[in-house]
Amino acid sequence: MGEPLRLAVLVSGKGSNLVAIVGAAERGDLQATVVVVISDRPEAGAIPWAQSKGICTEILPPQGLDRPAYAERLQQLLDRHRPDLIVLAGFMRILDAGFTERWSGRVLNIHPSLLPALTGLHTHRRALEAGLDHHGCTVHFVTGELDGGPPVIQASLAVQPGEDEASLSARVQALEHRIFPEAIGWFAEGRLEMKAGSAWLDGQRLESPVMREES
Ligand code: GAR
Repeated sequence: MGEPLRLAVLVSGKGSNLVAIVGAAERGDLQATVVVVISDRPEAGAIPWAQSKGICTEILPPQGLDRPAYAERLQQLLDRHRPDLIVLAGFMRILDAGFTERWSGRVLNIHPSLLPALTGLHTHRRALEAGLDHHGCTVHFVTGELDGGPPVIQASLAVQPGEDEASLSARVQALEHRIFPEAIGWFAEGRLEMKAGSAWLDGQRLESPVMREES
């Protein structure tokens, strides 16, 4: 077996997806190691959790940096830690187009909706307001188009009558914790790549993302 895939995990929040990824690696379900966790917010809960696991952490606040300057600083951190794949696990900043071009095919994001529905923020609230009967999450490759890169895998659930935003968010996050490590695992095994603007799994172009249902 080769070396585990080196992951840089970028976060802004509590880090439940980071916990799921590290858990999958610890169980041996994912041949990967988190070489650095980078947060734009010093108060992100993911940071003390990563430190408690002995994972290297970096804080890169955006203050005083425009988008290209932020990307340059981020690149310097990445040069130091040499990841094979960047994982956006609740990282709430838009990355510079030059940066996403440079890292093309090596950045995965988790988004809390069934893309292309509900790009952007507050997806659970907007799903409820729109009266959607199904909602979920998507792992996709990151390109210069916000939440628009080729999708890899989605998980969906049926919205329950009378359900509130907190409940929907918790149910979707449980799905995120399943499909994000799964997609990263495919990449680690050399089964997943981005080519000619599409996601490819096991040598087949994905016409649509792999689908999972809430169980
Ligand atoms: C996740 O639910 C993720 O889908 C969302 O942020 C949350 C982070 O939670 N990402 C986005 O909204 C990106 N546009 P976590 O810090 O507990 O992993």
